[in-house]
Amino acid sequence: MKGKFFGVGVGPGDPELITVKGRRLLEECDVVAFPCSAGDRESVALSIVKPYLRPGKERLALDFPMVRDYKGLRVHWKTAAQKVMDRLTAGKTVVFITLGDPTFYSTYGYLVRTLKGLGSGVPVETVPGITAASAAAAVLDESLVEGGERLAVLPAPDRPEELDEIVDRFDSIVLLKVNRTYNRLVTWLADRDLDGQAVFLSRVGQQGQVVEWGPAPKEGHKIDYLSLVIVKQGDRAMPGVSKRRGGTGPARYRSCSPPSIDT
Ligand SMILES: C[S@@+](CC[C@H](N)C(=O)[O-])C[C@H]1O[C@@H](n2cnc3c(N)ncnc32)[C@H](O)[C@@H]1O
Repeated sequence: MKGKFFGVGVGPGDPELITVKGRRLLEECDVVAFPCSAGDRESVALSIVKPYLRPGKERLALDFPMVRDYKGLRVHWKTAAQKVMDRLTAGKTVVFITLGDPTFYSTYGYLVRTLKGLGSGVPVETVPGITAASAAAAVLDESLVEGGERLAVLPAPDRPEELDEIVDRFDSIVLLKVNRTYNRLVTWLADRDLDGQAVFLSRVGQQGQVVEWGPAPKEGHKIDYLSLVIVKQGDRAMPGVSKRRGGTGPARYRSCSPPSIDT
């Protein structure tokens, strides 16, 4: 097989937060493949790398619906992997882009496993990227963990009570996919007196970035899927949190100035 498949992490949103290698591969490849779900033909990952794509390069949308039906999803992975395989067989270089890091809660893992299952010796290379968790901590100018501290990163559970055990065992916690359970999560944080040690961040590095210290419930508001919550406990709880907690008016809902991604 003459072609090669690359999985490239494009970071959380700022086009400058992509590795030099990732950028070079995007400039040189024949095909840029990206994940999308129905009704989302313009993927966030694609909008991040647009500055690096010359006109005429093939853009291959791979359908990965956001559902929990694994049996149904397998059909989509296989269809996507076959589309990639067709191009590799034709000698093309395919770069699959993924938000953040490809090894970190990404569709890339499913795709690359399925692709390898289609034939032996498929040339694959994975290029890491900056995770949303790292980028969020950077926005706050805060370490996620230092020294012997312990860090937990996990999707927000349907039942926030499941976090009781986690807060006992870890110093810092990053909760991803908080959109579905946000209000329940914030109530849980307040009940444990942890709301003052938590920060909500949405669309990090993208237009519309939001940073909210000491998050409060948002009844009736749709929370963006690209949102996370950082909880930091102990002596080194984020100084910014206690400083801003209980602040008045819009200062509690602070918007930073992200770079433009629509180039
Ligand atoms: C499927 S995971 C993808 C994680 C990604 N591969 C990474 O390395 O960060 C999706 C979750 O990542 C978080 N996320 C990704 N990009 C983000 C961003 N720009 N701002 C805030 N959270 C983000 C959100 O919690 C979202 O629900």
